[in-house]
Amino acid sequence: MQRHLANVLSNKQVSSRYWHMVVDSTNLNKTVNPGQFFQVRCADTYFPFLRRPLSVYRINENTIEFLYLVKGQGTSAMTKIQAGHSLDMMGPVGEGFRLDRSAQNILLVARGVGVATLAAVAQAAYRQGVKSYAIMSARSRDDLLAIEFLEDYGAEVFIVTEDEGTSDVENVKRIIKEDICATTVIDAIYTCGSRRLSKLSQSIANELHIPGEIALEEHMGCGMGACFSCVCDIREGDTTKSVRVCTEGPVFPLDKVVME
Ligand SMILES: Cc1cc2nc3c(=O)[nH]c(=O)nc-3n(C[C@H](O)[C@H](O)[C@H](O)COP(=O)(O)OP(=O)(O)OC[C@H]3O[C@@H](n4cnc5c(N)ncnc54)[C@H](O)[C@@H]3O)c2cc1C
Ligand code: FES
Repeated sequence: MQRHLANVLSNKQVSSRYWHMVVDSTNLNKTVNPGQFFQVRCADTYFPFLRRPLSVYRINENTIEFLYLVKGQGTSAMTKIQAGHSLDMMGPVGEGFRLDRSAQNILLVARGVGVATLAAVAQAAYRQGVKSYAIMSARSRDDLLAIEFLEDYGAEVFIVTEDEGTSDVENVKRIIKEDICATTVIDAIYTCGSRRLSKLSQSIANELHIPGEIALEEHMGCGMGACFSCVCDIREGDTTKSVRVCTEGPVFPLDKVVME
């Protein structure tokens, strides 16, 4: 895994809890795929000691972008990084999403910061001429991000929120089955950010025989396969096996992930 010191072009607060950072990627010399992430050093100080994993939100010709939720010590420290500073990041890490070249319509199911991971899929889909249908779930409309970005990439967006009482699993299921799948052949489902919605996506994919993928977000220590802090269970036939999200993932086939 390569370490890069990327020039920060901007780092701005975009809502009460979320920040958006753009870095120069001209010296990366590596293709970055949707679903892959970087292990980011949040500050020049000893603490926070561990790097934090952040998905690529947008992948452009000379820049990459991150969208991050300010959660604890690491992401709070990241908000102090200013344009002109350099970001110490390792990557790109992990296996990203696979977008089938023959797909015509895909469904994205994202909750909260899961949109940061799936937005890059919508961007790649648009470039391949694939139409995205996106279920965006959040606590409130204020907490929703990237809607315009998704629409710019041709996505039809369905917003559900807790505040409006529309984000319950039954309603999301109704939207997917009645408003989307009843009239459109969905070729693949991609999901990230919520266990409840991931379980729902898995059951719909299973019922309608649609292939799917999920990006898992586990706490990470090393981010390079050495510490096993990020393991999760994957179904292999009749048995389960433990995999490391940082190296074997973070993207896995939706039908294989054990979500009890
Ligand atoms: C692949 C991946 C992609 C992600 N992409 C995004 C994204 O695009 N945007 C976004 O906002 N968030 C993303 N996240 C979540 C993000 O990494 C966390 O919100 C962030 O690490 C929180 O750091 P913090 O210091 O602010 O929070 P805190 O909660 O203070 O610290 C979390 C950190 O605690 C440490 N930790 C806690 N428990 C353990 C453990 N059992 N083993 C090892 N270390 C532990 C780790 O360093 C961990 O990162 C992603 C996570 C993963 C795994
Ligand atoms: S984070 Fe250390 S093995 Fe995955």
